[in-house]
Amino acid sequence: MTGFTEEFVERLLRAAEAARANAHAPYSEFSVGAAVLDEDGAIHVGCNVENASFGLSVCAERNAVAASVAAGGRGLAALVVITPARPPASPCGACRQVLAEFGDFPVLLANPDGERRMTSVSELLPDAFDRSVLESS
Ligand code: THU
Repeated sequence: MTGFTEEFVERLLRAAEAARANAHAPYSEFSVGAAVLDEDGAIHVGCNVENASFGLSVCAERNAVAASVAAGGRGLAALVVITPARPPASPCGACRQVLAEFGDFPVLLANPDGERRMTSVSELLPDAFDRSVLESS
């Protein structure tokens, strides 16, 4: 499964927007939706889930990755993230590290106004600490 065809971009955008509508973000009021495409062509979604103990809040991207892994997804091929930011926000540092665990793949950042920015995991997190570092020791 490689990258983003037009069809997958549209499906991922719709899936991420639907997940964003379910975000639990009563503290920041910054609702985020994410949709990952796995290597078998299946889509898995996540939204941010905040907590009254703020530090326990989890980002949409990491929840989408967890959903993919729990569903048996074999690897990630693409990610779409929708935030309300203008221009669209890019993933936080913790999410970049979690994404890098699953390789380098295209990432489309979007917002509800229709703004888009295409990037990739390696562009978001160059020189990542990954399994190759552990294997080199
Ligand atoms: N958030 C995400 O879901 N993804 C990111 O990459 C950055 C931030 C969430 C966390 C929190 O619920 C809200 O956005 C404000 O930081």
